[in-house]
Amino acid sequence: MELLDALCHRRSIRSFDPQHRLTETELKHLIGHAQLAPTSFNMQNWHFVAVVDPAVKEQLWLASWKQNPVRDASVVVVITGDLGAPQRSERFLRHAPPPVAQRIDGYVQALYAENPQLSRDEACRSAGFAGMAMMLVAKEMGLDTCPMIGFDPVKVSEALGLDADHPPLLMMTVGKALAPAFPRTGFLDFNETVSVDRFGNHCFAGEPPAA
Ligand SMILES: Cc1cc2nc3c(=O)[nH]c(=O)nc-3n(C[C@H](O)[C@H](O)[C@H](O)COP(=O)(O)O)c2cc1C
Repeated sequence: MELLDALCHRRSIRSFDPQHRLTETELKHLIGHAQLAPTSFNMQNWHFVAVVDPAVKEQLWLASWKQNPVRDASVVVVITGDLGAPQRSERFLRHAPPPVAQRIDGYVQALYAENPQLSRDEACRSAGFAGMAMMLVAKEMGLDTCPMIGFDPVKVSEALGLDADHPPLLMMTVGKALAPAFPRTGFLDFNETVSVDRFGNHCFAGEPPAA
């Protein structure tokens, strides 16, 4: 599938075939390619919990106000942050030449060591990029998705055994669609969402191409 096709045809699906399963190879393909998404300094400040066990899915379903995609999707991938990633730079710099690793570690510590809010913001950014990549890979695999934040993070953490350094940031339900998405509710006009050179300098007009 061409990239623009995948972008234009990705929609949030709420009805999945509960019988459909992903093979381990498909799961690795899905998550492995999502992990090619960029992260600041290549910190890879994330963790992916792929939930396929119906009993665990049931717990997630209860923790997400019984939203059907969580119960019926082939897999629910919970993307968590890894807030301790900046402190363990040897993990993601292991292939860098020592002087390069030392220099990058210096930047990482200067930015994140004393700034837990930035570490959390960074984890949210990373999860967002990985989530978008995962949705496009799924589309290319003939699958559909629904990204979700409608869940209780405390209950999700309990269900998955997450610690405080691994907050659940995004739930990605992936599976075979049984019904199309709801009709689109409308895109904002460019002149509300795009400025050129300075905020409020609206030079573009009209709706985005896919609208
Ligand atoms: C961060 C985020 C959280 C979302 N959470 C939910 C959710 O909890 N439940 C749900 O049904 N849809 C959820 N959605 C899907 C949005 O409603 C959907 O993306 C939006 O309406 C646009 O529709 P589209 O994805 O089909 O283009 C979420 C989407 C995003 C990006």
